[in-house]
This record gives sequence, structure tokens and C-alpha cells, in this order.
Amino acid sequence: MSAMTMLAVGDIVGAEAAAWLAQRLPILRDQYEIDWVMVNAENCSVTGSSPIDGFGMTTEVVDMLLTAGVDAITGGNHSWDGPDVDKVLAYPQVVRPINVSEARGQGLVTLDGAGRTLTVINMLSPTAALPGMRAPQPKPLWPSWTELAASTSLPGAIVVDLHGESPWEKASFATALDGRVSAVLGTHTHDASLRGHILPAGTGYIADLGMTGRLGFSGGGFDPAYFAAQLRGDNPHKLPAYRLATGRMTLGALLLRLDASGHTKAITRVS
Ligand SMILES: [Fe+2]
Ligand SMILES: [Fe+2]
Repeated sequence: MSAMTMLAVGDIVGAEAAAWLAQRLPILRDQYEIDWVMVNAENCSVTGSSPIDGFGMTTEVVDMLLTAGVDAITGGNHSWDGPDVDKVLAYPQVVRPINVSEARGQGLVTLDGAGRTLTVINMLSPTAALPGMRAPQPKPLWPSWTELAASTSLPGAIVVDLHGESPWEKASFATALDGRVSAVLGTHTHDASLRGHILPAGTGYIADLGMTGRLGFSGGGFDPAYFAAQLRGDNPHKLPAYRLATGRMTLGALLLRLDASGHTKAITRVS
């Protein structure tokens, strides 16, 4: 296997942010000599009126990202939202969490070209699967991983998009897999962790890639007034509109350089 460079982008929030990224991707690819691009796009289309079902992907936005050069699209607790679920999960490049009972779609994809092979796996922590959501209840992480590793061929370098709430859980999972995968990259919180780490046996790790979208005043890509009203226990029929944030765009992304044996040699933020 050859050394490779990959760009990993955290939760894209809204179609406008997807278009913004799509426009910049060719430039980023050239600038950093990127071999593979993986993006988490579970929020790339806002299709519903609440966080329960309103964050999914549409074929229109998925097509836009693929045309711009994205190689793999991961998801999370919102992989089951939106009107296009069946069509979206049918794309070979779209990866939904692997540790659920689901006949549609796939939980991993292997990218192969120019001697550079990369397997991208998506896992969903139970911490990110809230009651009432459309996502099936995920199975526990570690038994799911051991079952997967024992039963499935995982060619080339392996990168896990671990979609969950807790940095401690993500760090524990990365440490448990140190030396067995190239990287564990956290998604879901939308809050970009400052530092990436290279663990002792060569696994790259970050608690959260962050989100790609408009920063607003709390950084998650959505106007937080809806969530604040929910937290206060306001009348559920009179909650503020559930909408995207305003303000400047931000890119939640990491550049990962892997050596020929699949170890992470550098993990740096791209903004
Ligand atoms: Fe998200
Ligand atoms: Fe999520």
C-alpha cells in the first residue's frame, strides 16, 4: 500500500454549506494533494420541522458532493431522516452506521485507486441515538466492532467515523483500537475539537471533526433558540422556528497523512 492523504470533513449542515464545500473542494484537493475525501453529511439537507426527523440527506445534495469529488459520505443518527432515505442509502458511496439492524445501504465502503486502499466505516454510539428518532437503536460499540473484524474483510487503511456525544467514549474506543485502524474520527457534536492526537501504536484520533456550515452564535450550524426553548420546557406547540444559523461559514475538517503501513503520521486541522 502507498502512503496517502485524506481530508475528513465533519457534519455538513444544510445544502448551502454543501455547495460552499463543493466549490472549494477542487482547490483543497490540489493545495494539500489529497487522495481521498470523506465527509459526514447527515445534516446536509434540512427536510423536516424538528430535530427528530429533519436532518437527513437528499439525492440532490449527495449528487452535488459526489460531483465535486467527495469519495465517501458518512452519516449517523440522521441517516434515516428525510424523504429520500431509500435512494440515498442505495448509493455505493453513502455509508450509514454499521452497528444497526438495517437491510438497506452499507456500513462501510472500500475506496481503491493508484495503490491506495481505504476502508471507511461508520459507527453510531448509543449516546447519539435519542428516543423518537427514526434511527434504529445501535448495538454496543465494542461487540459490534469485534463481530465486524472477525467476519468481514477490511482492506487497506481503515478509518472509523464514530458518531457519538461523548469525547471519553470516543477516546476509549480509539485507544482500544490503537494500531488496528488508521484513525478514529469523532462526529455528531458539531463542536470542533482543537487537537488531533496520534496514539502510541499509530492510530489518529480526534474527539470531533466539527461542523461545516454557518457559525451563528453557538457554533452548531442551527439557530439554538429552538433547543433552548425545548430545554426550558416551553410549550412544544409554540417552539421557535427550527432553522439554520446565520453568520460566516466554517469548515470542520482534518487532514490526515498515513504512511505505507497505514499509521497516521500527521493529523492537522484545515479551516
Ligand atoms: Fe450532525
Ligand atoms: Fe448526529
